[in-house]
Amino acid sequence: MNLKETILVTGACGQIGTELVKALRQKYGKDSVIATDIREVTEALCSDGPYFKLDVLDKYALEKLTIDLHVTHIYHLAAVLSANGEKNPLGSWDLNMKSLLNVLEVARAENLKQVFWPSSIAVFGPDAPKELCGQDASTLPTTVYGISKIAGEHWCRYYNEQYGLDVRSIRYPGLISYSAQAGGGTTDYAVDIYHQALKSGRYQCFLSEETRLPMMYMPDAVRATLELMDAPSENITIRGSYNLAGLSFNPAELAATITNQLPDFKITYQPDARQQIANSWPGSIDDTPAKTDWNWKPEYDVYSMTTDMLQHLAETYHAEALQSK
Ligand SMILES: NC(=O)c1ccc[n+]([C@@H]2O[C@H](COP(=O)([O-])OP(=O)(O)OC[C@H]3O[C@@H](n4cnc5c(N)ncnc54)[C@H](O)[C@@H]3O)[C@@H](O)[C@H]2O)c1
Repeated sequence: MNLKETILVTGACGQIGTELVKALRQKYGKDSVIATDIREVTEALCSDGPYFKLDVLDKYALEKLTIDLHVTHIYHLAAVLSANGEKNPLGSWDLNMKSLLNVLEVARAENLKQVFWPSSIAVFGPDAPKELCGQDASTLPTTVYGISKIAGEHWCRYYNEQYGLDVRSIRYPGLISYSAQAGGGTTDYAVDIYHQALKSGRYQCFLSEETRLPMMYMPDAVRATLELMDAPSENITIRGSYNLAGLSFNPAELAATITNQLPDFKITYQPDARQQIANSWPGSIDDTPAKTDWNWKPEYDVYSMTTDMLQHLAETYHAEALQSK
C-alpha cells in the first residue's frame, strides 16, 4: 500500500475491528484508515481517526463512501457470529452474504486494489478431522454461520478468478482480546473467563471442561492479517481462505493458566446450546499453506496470553474504579 491509498474497514467497532483499525492506523497513518460500522457516530469513535456510520447492507451508501473518500482497500468485518447466527438463521445469512456480495461488487466496479474478508474454522463440520484439520478437509458445517462462511469463500475465489480481484482471507480460530467484548460466538468463554476471574474470582463456563478448540490471541491474529495482506500476490495460492493455527486448549487447561496467577479462581461448567456447535468443530488446525505461502508463525502460547490478558484487564478495571470514585 502506498501513501495515496485509503483503507475502509466495515464492522470496525467489533472485537477484531477495534484492534485491526488501531494496527492499520499505526502502519499507514490515521487519516488513511476509515472506520465504519452500523453504530451511531460518537465523539469517542472519531477520536483516533475518521469514522462514518455505514450499514454495509446499503450498497449505494457503501459505493458512495468508497468513491467520495477515494477508497482503494476494504477490510470487511461486519457479520453475525456463530452462536448469535443460530438465533436468526435467515437474518444471519442475509447480513453475512449480502454484505460480502456488496463489498465484492463495489470492489469490482470501482477497481479496488485489495479486499480482506475473514472466514472461520466454523466452515468445518463433524466429519472433518478433530486434530490438525487440514486446509482441504471436508467442509460440511452444521451452523448457518459456517454455511455463510464457506459460501463466502467460494464467492471470494470466484471474484478473484473471474475479475482478477485481489481478495484475501483467513479462517480465524476463536479470538481472545481485552479491548472489546466478544461478539456472540461459540468461543466467547475464552474472553469472558478473564473478566470474571478479575471481577468475581469465579466463572461458569458454557462449554464442558474437555472441549478443545482452535484459538488465537488477538495480537497474533492482527499480525497475521497484516502479513497476509502484505504478501506478494504471486505467493497467494489460496483464494478461498487460509487455515490459520495458533493455540489449541480446552476450558480446564485455560482455567489452569489463570489459577496459576490467581490461586483462588474457581471454574464450574454448565454447557448450553453452544456446546453442540463446539462439538461440530475441529480441536486443532493444520495451517501448512499459510506457513509456506506467507511465512506465518504465531508468537503467543496460552501462558503468555493469560499473563498479558490479566495484566491489561487489571489495569482497565483499576482505572475504571479510580474514575468512579
Ligand atoms: N471474533 C472471533 O473469534 C472470530 C473468529 C472467526 C471469524 N471471525 C470473523 O471476523 C469478523 C469480525 O468479527 P468480530 O468478532 O469483530 O465480530 P463482532 O460481532 O465483534 O463485530 C461485528 C461488527 O459488525 C457491526 N455490524 C453488524 N451489522 C452491520 C451492518 N449491517 N453494517 C455495518 N456494520 C455492522 C457490529 O456493530 C459490530 O461492531 C466476522 O466476519 C467474523 O465472522 C471472528
